[in-house]
Amino acid sequence: MKQEKIRLLFVCLGNICRSPSAEAIMKKVVKDAGLEHLIEIDSAGILGYHEGELPDSRMRTHGARRGYVLDSRSRPVKTSDFYDFDMLIGMDDRNIDDLKRKAPDLESVAKIHKMTDFLHSKLHDHVPDPYYGGAAGFELVLDLLEDACQGLLDTISSVPDN
Ligand code: 4NP
Repeated sequence: MKQEKIRLLFVCLGNICRSPSAEAIMKKVVKDAGLEHLIEIDSAGILGYHEGELPDSRMRTHGARRGYVLDSRSRPVKTSDFYDFDMLIGMDDRNIDDLKRKAPDLESVAKIHKMTDFLHSKLHDHVPDPYYGGAAGFELVLDLLEDACQGLLDTISSVPDN
């Protein structure tokens, strides 16, 4: 694995459901692997509508049942994120398209990834927005993110140290 720090930014629409959950889950996966000193993790939203808010209370409740503390504050993606992070990881195709529109240059576009590309079980091609749905949607988000975070760590860990 590369020995310089890798910086990951998870991105969804509002930064109150999916990406803060990805942030919390990835922090746990990285901590359990003893790699906290090598991987920095943050999240942001395409919209600034919920800026400053804690994650959605339903998402926090479902996350807490699995032991995740969702305590980040929503913030919108900013141009400097494309320079400050190595990977910007969106949850669905709309996030990917919006990130590509915001990317300041081609090098930034190359940093954009989709979360479901890291799934071990390739049964989903996006992490569905749970905001307007019921409890099952929030559980599905956590199931997909737990799988994809593990896959993401496997991918990062397999990058050779040059
Ligand atoms: P998220 O869910 O993108 O997973 O944070 C949403 C939260 C809020 C809204 C949409 C999606 N919204 O339109 O306010």
